Amino acid sequence: MPTNDDALVERKCDTLNIILEEKCAKGDSFDIHHLYGQFTLETMLAVAFGSEVNLLKGEGSLLTEAVAGLFDDLSESIITWEEVFHSHFPSLLTFVSKIGARFLPLSRHLKYLNDTSIEIIKSRREQNDDEKCKDFLRLLMDASATDDDEDKTNSSQKKMALTDQQIAGLCLDFFVAGQETTANALAYSSYLLSLNPDEQERLCEAIDNYYQENEDASLYDASQNIPYLDWVIQEALRMYPPAPLTKRQCNKTCTINGITFPKGSLVIFPIQYLHCSPDNWDEPEVFNPNRFSPEGKEGRNPLSHIPFGWGPRSCIGMRFALMEAKACLVSILRKYRFERSPDTQVPLQLKFSLTQSPKNGIFLKLIKV
Ligand code: HEM
Repeated sequence: MPTNDDALVERKCDTLNIILEEKCAKGDSFDIHHLYGQFTLETMLAVAFGSEVNLLKGEGSLLTEAVAGLFDDLSESIITWEEVFHSHFPSLLTFVSKIGARFLPLSRHLKYLNDTSIEIIKSRREQNDDEKCKDFLRLLMDASATDDDEDKTNSSQKKMALTDQQIAGLCLDFFVAGQETTANALAYSSYLLSLNPDEQERLCEAIDNYYQENEDASLYDASQNIPYLDWVIQEALRMYPPAPLTKRQCNKTCTINGITFPKGSLVIFPIQYLHCSPDNWDEPEVFNPNRFSPEGKEGRNPLSHIPFGWGPRSCIGMRFALMEAKACLVSILRKYRFERSPDTQVPLQLKFSLTQSPKNGIFLKLIKV
């Protein structure tokens, strides 16, 4: 069932397409990863925090800079992977403040994001019509206390309540977990389609066929009902998982396949390795969306493809991320084709921080159909 969020995503796709129209008219290649970053940030702010900004139209660039800066700081700082693993999303704020104390630029970006979140929270408190807007932020605020209460943990009620500072920390977790990851998924899908024109044509045919039969379908409907679109995105997430690893900590000693894991030990799951191992995939370097057709999946261990993790602590934003990415691709491919240009980097260089991103952006051309 479509929701208000889906209408909001549709609106953000429209804004993105206005910018793409301008890029296409100029005829030059451009960094589509950067644009997707603005698109997912704008969408996240609107859907989760009820906050309308026009990053795509060039407003609020400090915010985009701060989010991008946070990731760049992490990739360039002298942090160990262990620190990154320990920080994994929910405890990120503790981690970044620890690193922030050592790396000034990170604290600048972090401070900006923190201050922006606090500002959004305060302005939402001042809005009397907030009851209408039951988004993520409102749910957190409904569970809130005043910052003065933070140290007064005498009553169990106060212990449960969230202060503005804690809410800001959770907002930051959401920015980090959901914005860059989805922008990367979109950018990798577009990149792979530009390098594989036959697969791109097959996808566009599937989209056209769907709209011929469902003339007035919303982007949400299309995102849920075109199987080949799902296969394309799953294959892009296989080749370039935005989160290249995850981890678990043993809460009791256990032995699996003869290997003993002592209580407290950290186990790392190398998502990228599982996705590219020839033990799991034929010709893993080849872009082949058919791997995700029902026949393609037959007999394959489901744990060989885990872009959103696995089990009770898997990604809570998966459905939203897939809907957003699919709606966005449909909105673009109904009008344009992605085309490789001389400055499209092949093979693509990546950089690693909390996510795996294109090191130098992704430059492509758009051709109107
Ligand atoms: C293509 C986009 C995305 C990818 C590839 C992705 C991937 C992941 C992965 C691999 C994990 C770790 C899961 C595990 O250890 O089993 C995770 C956790 C998480 N993700 Fe995502 N994610 C994406 C989008 C999002 C979005 C849009 C949101 C928020 C709206 C989000 C929120 C979270 C949160 C809060 C967690 C921590 C869950 C927990 O620890 O219980 N993610 N994600």
